[in-house]
Amino acid sequence: MTVQRLRRSGLAVPASNRRQGPRYVDFHDPDGYLESAQQAKLLGFEGKWCIHPNQIEWANAEFTPSRKLYDEGERVLAALHRGGSGRARRRALRAGSVSVKPLASASRRLEEESAVGPDLNEGRYSPGRCARDIYAVVEAYLGDMPAAQREVVPALQRLAREKNLLDMGLPRESNHAVDGSWLYWDSEIGIFTVKFPHDVVVPVHNHGTWEIVGVYEGELDYQSYRRLDDGSREGYAELEVVENRVLGPGDFSVVPLPPHDIHGFRAHKGDMWMIGVVHGDFDEERLYFDPDRRSYVRRHQKAWRRSLDR
Ligand SMILES: [Fe+2]
Repeated sequence: MTVQRLRRSGLAVPASNRRQGPRYVDFHDPDGYLESAQQAKLLGFEGKWCIHPNQIEWANAEFTPSRKLYDEGERVLAALHRGGSGRARRRALRAGSVSVKPLASASRRLEEESAVGPDLNEGRYSPGRCARDIYAVVEAYLGDMPAAQREVVPALQRLAREKNLLDMGLPRESNHAVDGSWLYWDSEIGIFTVKFPHDVVVPVHNHGTWEIVGVYEGELDYQSYRRLDDGSREGYAELEVVENRVLGPGDFSVVPLPPHDIHGFRAHKGDMWMIGVVHGDFDEERLYFDPDRRSYVRRHQKAWRRSLDR
């Protein structure tokens, strides 16, 4: 009764109580156990005693959160972590008939209970956690990629505060730089670090997908562009500068969806280390622009870098 009253009051049920649904003594009766488990669930319990190994599978079947509920919880948590009370947050929290407060509470519990074993990262913000947050944002903003990209930046700023990003990852061949590493990659989202030596000027180019770039160490003299022409004339492009600034550690810039996926940059006052996120693969062939001449050339994405190595 205590558990039921606490649930009805909207109060938290102590973990020691909420996982102790009543025992069911006949361990050869799965139907009876499941019926008893369902009754316990309705009363607010989140688990049930097992007095025999037979009952473990039955208990898990009834109390393990569904993939759909878990995904919904992740989405709600991402919205709550973003904070604020604007339209975007309400849209992310929209969950049919379920009100926000209990859903958020349930989501936090699911997050806690999904953590199996010790916290191997000791509370640090790993690239994998960052990738999961990125997915949550992208899914919450389905169909509104510019807004999603902006919401991804706070997660990257949190990652950029981690101290050891340059000591981890797997080798990545960069198109324009050296010492690249994948911190995370799953064929859809990739997070990487890469070094830009102070004397390398990266020409203005596009990508064929969205990208977010920022500074981990050093400074970056950075320009991004919007394409004004309709792309119908081969070799011709009119570009307008939309961003022209020096990025420092923790600063990020969104390279939006094509056709405005265009930027150019160089390390500012010394070497710099970049953190980047790319959505899918870059186009094999990309455009290298000359904004002053209103022209471009087509090149393989790695041709420019390899020309420096010769
Ligand atoms: Fe780029």
